[in-house]
Amino acid sequence: MDILTWGRTPWGEWMLTHISWDLLWAALFAGVAFLVAHASYMLLSAHRKRDAAETDRLEAARTDLPVRIARHSLAARLFHWVMAAAMFTLLFTAFLPIAGVKFPWVQWHWMAGLVLTASIVFHIIHATVWMDFWSIWIGPKDIPELKSELMRELGREADGPKPGKYPLGNRLYHLVIVLSALVVVTSGLFMMVRVRTPFFTRNPYLLTDAKWGLTYVAHGLAGVALVGLVIAHVYFAMRPEKWWITKSMILGWITRRQYLEHHDPTRWVSR
Ligand code: HEM
Repeated sequence: MDILTWGRTPWGEWMLTHISWDLLWAALFAGVAFLVAHASYMLLSAHRKRDAAETDRLEAARTDLPVRIARHSLAARLFHWVMAAAMFTLLFTAFLPIAGVKFPWVQWHWMAGLVLTASIVFHIIHATVWMDFWSIWIGPKDIPELKSELMRELGREADGPKPGKYPLGNRLYHLVIVLSALVVVTSGLFMMVRVRTPFFTRNPYLLTDAKWGLTYVAHGLAGVALVGLVIAHVYFAMRPEKWWITKSMILGWITRRQYLEHHDPTRWVSR
């Protein structure tokens, strides 16, 4: 399987042009293989939430908490769904033509790209000014939580910390998707200069052939990575034991019991 596609400059030198589209099928295969592996593993795995007796005790002690705990503000939910619509439009407009469904995709693609870019800019400002910015990032400080979550996964009791607002897996996923999105958005904005848009006269000479090649390869690699990442995200959102989180992305809240079952109230203080 080839990973990259090469072409020749007018001077006969080899240069990169695109990624090989075999990678799209590899990403789809990897996404589906991951679902099957994870679903099989979940049949054996111990559940990691707090046990019922302990949650009963906590619930009795924490009647000061509201029955519904706010998890996502309206602005955060709107961002999520606008971004999801843009992301699906981008994936389908990019990859359907490659899979053989021909239509004039470029203008729909860059328009969805601008919606994604605007929603990300909004999200960065919103998260920095109004949200708990650090609650989503992952680092060495999370090793004790990782250890105790692994113990719970193996069905053992562990006194170590439970997750704050976002479980470890979600924070790792956020980091990978941030990196892929930054690459796809930056390269995509440059690529807009090469196609016809109402904003400026197209200029294929902005970069050298070699730099355009690298830009297209970066865009393609981040794009196929997003195929696998989006498949994994939708899969987790649809798993029955995660419905309480998915529902909160629609309604904005979780119940007091779900909050106490899955979180450490000292690490995600509900206000
Ligand atoms: C989920 C995100 C995205 C995916 C999966 C994706 C995927 C792709 C793919 C596979 C191509 C074909 C590249 C090639 O021929 O080598 C492409 C082209 C293009 N993308 Fe994206 N893209 C995404 C986001 C964006 C964004 C955010 C923008 C702009 C802001 C953008 C602008 C463009 C443009 C202008 C082209 C056409 C380039 C040309 O035909 O010369 N894309 N995209």
